[in-house]
Amino acid sequence: MHCLKMTAVEFINITKKFGSFFANRDISFSVEKNTVHCILGENGAGKTTLMKILFGMYRQDSGSLKISGEDIRFNSPHDAIAKGIGMVHQHFMLIDDFTVMENIILGNEITKGIRIDFDKTAGILNELISTYSLNLDINKKISEISISAQQKTEILKLLFRNSDILIFDEPTAVLSPAETDEFFKIIGKFKSSGKTIIFITHKLNEVRKISDKVSVLRRGMLVYESSNENRNLDLNILSQAIVGETVVKANTEKADIVFPGNDGRNAISLRNIFLKKDNVSRLKGLNLDLYKGEIHGICGVEGNGQNEIIDIITGLETEFEGEFSNPGCSISLVPDDRLKKGMISEFTIGENIILKKKSSNFISERLLDRISTETAEKYDVRVSDIKSNLSSLSGGNQQKVIFARETELESDVMIFSHPTRGVDINATVFIHSKIIEQRNKGKAVLLISSDLDELFALSDKISVIYNGAIAGTFGSEELSNFRNEELIRKSDESTGSPLSDKIGKLMIGIKTE
Ligand SMILES: Nc1ncnc2c1ncn2[C@@H]1O[C@H](COP(=O)(O)OP(=O)(O)OP(=O)(O)O)[C@@H](O)[C@H]1O
Ligand SMILES: [Mg+2]
Repeated sequence: MHCLKMTAVEFINITKKFGSFFANRDISFSVEKNTVHCILGENGAGKTTLMKILFGMYRQDSGSLKISGEDIRFNSPHDAIAKGIGMVHQHFMLIDDFTVMENIILGNEITKGIRIDFDKTAGILNELISTYSLNLDINKKISEISISAQQKTEILKLLFRNSDILIFDEPTAVLSPAETDEFFKIIGKFKSSGKTIIFITHKLNEVRKISDKVSVLRRGMLVYESSNENRNLDLNILSQAIVGETVVKANTEKADIVFPGNDGRNAISLRNIFLKKDNVSRLKGLNLDLYKGEIHGICGVEGNGQNEIIDIITGLETEFEGEFSNPGCSISLVPDDRLKKGMISEFTIGENIILKKKSSNFISERLLDRISTETAEKYDVRVSDIKSNLSSLSGGNQQKVIFARETELESDVMIFSHPTRGVDINATVFIHSKIIEQRNKGKAVLLISSDLDELFALSDKISVIYNGAIAGTFGSEELSNFRNEELIRKSDESTGSPLSDKIGKLMIGIKTE
C-alpha cells in the first residue's frame, strides 16, 4: 500500500500440469502497473500456459494470483475480463464472415431496448480507433482484411471492454517490420494512457526496444528476471537464460553460405500471369522462375500476391491467364497460416507428421509411432506424447511439426512461407540450416518471409513483389556484396544499407535507380 510502484499482477508459486507434465512450475513474479513486461522463453517453455491462467482459461494446480493487490480466482475468461484483463492470442479468435464490428460486439452488445445499438457502438469504436491510431475499417469482413488489421480488431475488442492489463502473445510474429513499428507506437499510446502490457516475443531486438522489465521461462520455470532498470539490457545474458547452457549461433553467420549456382534447370516458371479474384486483380503480369538448387526469396508487404503465387504453384488456383509450367515436379508447402492450411488439430501429432506420406495406404500403428517419433526427435519437436492431439503442442512446436513433415517429403520444389514464424532462436537456426540443406540437395526453394534478415541470410536471389507483380530482382552477386558490407557495418542499426533501402522502397511501390 505504501510502495511507490503499484503491482498490476502478482503470480505466486503458480504450478500447472498437463497429465504428469509440468507446463508451469512454481512461478512467482510481479508485473508493475503501467509498464511493458516481456515474457521470453523457448518454444514450449510455458509462456502461453501462464498467460492463459491469468486470463482465466486454465486453472492452476497450485499457487495464486493477485490483481492490484487483491487475491483473485478466475473460473473463466469472463471473470478475467471483468477484472480488466484482456488477451490477444497467438492464434486470433475471429469469425471470418463477420465484420470487424460484429466480431467486437459479439458477447459485448450494447443494447437499446432489446436491439443492439449499432450507431452507438460504431461511435465508440471509431473514437477508440482514432485515439489509438488503429487505422481500421469496422465495416469490413475479417476475410477481407490483412493479418495486421485482424490483430487490430483483437486490440479494439480489448479496448472496447475497457481492459487495463493487456496480454499479447507473440503479436509481432505475423507482422512485417513496418507493421511492427506501427504496433509499437500503439503500445506506446497504451502506456501513456496508463495501461499495463504483457508482451511475449522471440525477438530480442524488440525486447530491447520496448520492454521495461523481462522475465524468462525455461521448461516451465522462471529462470531469469531483469532488474528494474532495464536500459542496458544485455542480449547475450538474455539469450543464455532462454536456452540454458547451449550457446546460440547468431542468424547472420548463416550468410556465409557458398552458393553453388543454380544449374540452369528450370523447375517452375510463371510467365505473364494475370489473376482476378472477386473482381479484384491480384496478379498483374507476374513473372517468376524457380531453379533447382536455388533459394529464391520473395520479399513484400503481405497481400501483394504472395499467396496467389503459392495457390497457382500448388494447383489450388487454376483460373488465371498466362503461362504456368511445372515439368512434373512434386511440391512441398509450409503455409503461412499453420492452423488453417497446415494441419488437422484434431489429429494426433504423429498423424500430422505422416499425413502426406504416399508410400502406403495402410500404415500400422507401430510404424506410425516409430516414424513420427523419429521425425519429432530429428526436428526437436518438444512432445510429451506423440499420441496426443496436435492442438496440445505449443505454437512453435506446431510449426516445427509442419516444417518437419514437408521437408521430409523430399519434394522437388519446396515452398516455405514464413517458416520460422513463432519459433525460438535455436529452432530458427535449425530451420535455416535445413532450408539451405534442401537447396544443396538440388531442390528449388521458394522462400516467402516478412523477416528481411531471414531473406538476406538465406536467399540466393531476392525478388520484391508489389501489387501483383515482381518489382525488382537481386542476384547472388548483389546479395553477397550486401552481406559483406553488413559484416562491416554490423553494429550500426540506425542506418539502412543501400540495398536494403532499395528493397524497402520497392516493397511500398517506390522505384529508385
Ligand atoms: N492443453 C494442453 N494439453 C497438453 N499439453 C499442453 C497443453 N497446452 C500446453 N501443453 C504443453 O505445455 C508446454 C508449454 O506450452 P506453452 O504453449 O505454454 O508454450 P510456449 O512457451 O507458449 O511456447 P511457444 O513459444 O512455442 O508458443 C508444452 O510442452 C505444451 O506441449
Ligand atoms: Mg505460446
